[in-house]
Amino acid sequence: MIEQESLMLKRSISKNPNKKLNLLVVGGGYVGLTMAVCFADIGCNVVCVDKQKAKINSLSKGKVTIFEKDLDRLLVKNLKSKRLQFKLLANSGDIENSDIIMIAVGTPFDDKLDGYNQRDIYSVAKEIARFINKYTVIVIKSTVEVGTCDKVEQIIKETNPKADIEVVSIPEFLREGSGVYDFFNPERIIVGTGSQRAKEIIKELHKPLQKKKLVYTTRRSSEIIKCASNAFLATKVHFINEMADFCEEVGGNVYEVAYGMGLDKRIGREFLKPGPGYGGGCFPKDAKALASLGKRVGANFNLIECVICANGNRIKGFGQKILRCVKNIKKPKVAFLGLAFKSGTDDCRCSPAVDIVLGLINKGLKVCVYDPAAMKNAKTILKSRVFYAKDEYEAAKGADIIVIGTEWKQFKSLDWQKMGRFVRNKFIFDMRNIVDKQETLKHGFECYKIGC
Ligand SMILES: NC(=O)c1ccc[n+]([C@@H]2O[C@H](COP(=O)([O-])OP(=O)(O)OC[C@H]3O[C@@H](n4cnc5c(N)ncnc54)[C@H](O)[C@@H]3O)[C@@H](O)[C@H]2O)c1
Repeated sequence: MIEQESLMLKRSISKNPNKKLNLLVVGGGYVGLTMAVCFADIGCNVVCVDKQKAKINSLSKGKVTIFEKDLDRLLVKNLKSKRLQFKLLANSGDIENSDIIMIAVGTPFDDKLDGYNQRDIYSVAKEIARFINKYTVIVIKSTVEVGTCDKVEQIIKETNPKADIEVVSIPEFLREGSGVYDFFNPERIIVGTGSQRAKEIIKELHKPLQKKKLVYTTRRSSEIIKCASNAFLATKVHFINEMADFCEEVGGNVYEVAYGMGLDKRIGREFLKPGPGYGGGCFPKDAKALASLGKRVGANFNLIECVICANGNRIKGFGQKILRCVKNIKKPKVAFLGLAFKSGTDDCRCSPAVDIVLGLINKGLKVCVYDPAAMKNAKTILKSRVFYAKDEYEAAKGADIIVIGTEWKQFKSLDWQKMGRFVRNKFIFDMRNIVDKQETLKHGFECYKIGC
């Protein structure tokens, strides 16, 4: 499908190339790297900088640092074309040459600040300011607190009063796991600016993509749209999770309920899949940051606050459900399959699966984990507190319960006869509802699924 999209895209680019804009991307993480590679692919000259040396070394050699479909192929292609370079530090020339500087550094939630930690954004603004010597558009791609573009503009102007700049908010909506696809097929590109001159450059930048998807707003509205979207999606996920619990109690099937609800266009079918709770590098922190800011300015987000609290309780509750399943077993062993916060990515930030594993080991359970992509990232959190298996079958050796933590496709087609030979007790706790229950029953397993 992506191949087909790329072909369609190539045709549209050749008809519709942009004017070889020079783009500097600051931050080479999930967003920055995807942006850098994809903008190079549609004809821009891109320099991507990151403060992590190992990342830059790896990317410069054509080795991707994140698990993201199609990114490896496009990285190599665009390095070869010389439209893409990676550097540890942007030199003055890179900044001077840039038509657009895109800031895509991380904005983690900081409990002490009770909001985003935007230190990296402000330090980048200071670093680039002194070298700006021609009209440059500064794009804030990171998800930020409302008013950040104003602050970035102020920092740059204070550091270099002659800087001829415009700060534009273009929040990123890519979904990890389909980031490349989302770049080439955006549902909308929100452009927060009041400047006609900046609009022209941003239009040019996105020319090979579908121009009709550009939506102009004020900077503040654009900043709010991003957080509001994520908080809304988190709420939707939580809604169907509660509905799943209700279905379990009263004997309904949450999939039938979600399907029936989703046929109503006002509701929509997306994001009505039950699970252990939302997670990842965005929803939890964006919902929290929005709720905190709301409180500070006296506009309480009661609904979002409830969702944040209930989602945390849900994740803890799943850990307790697993504990209850093995309460009569002496020294129970858990085979935990899937650690990434969702399939298609190696991202373990705020992963419900990882949080549940931590809860289980804190209660003294032995846990053996396996994930097809996220073992390296999970190790940075779980360290030597769990056993790491080379595959699902090794993880199952001597297990009393098999937990499905992430909806990886390969877990759908596990050989349950083979799994049955390895386990001590035949019990499956499917937090992602991907296992074929009838098939597992044939091989003597008992299988718990959510909401059905
Ligand atoms: N990951 C997603 O799916 C996603 C989607 C939409 C928006 N966002 C937002 O985009 C932003 C980036 O997210 P991410 O997931 O890519 O984060 P990330 O942690 O993967 O990447 C951030 C990168 O910025 C680099 N960095 C930090 N300070 C720097 C500096 N001064 N100079 C150069 N590099 C620097 C870090 O080394 C890191 O590689 C966040 O605000 C996030 O909320 C993320």
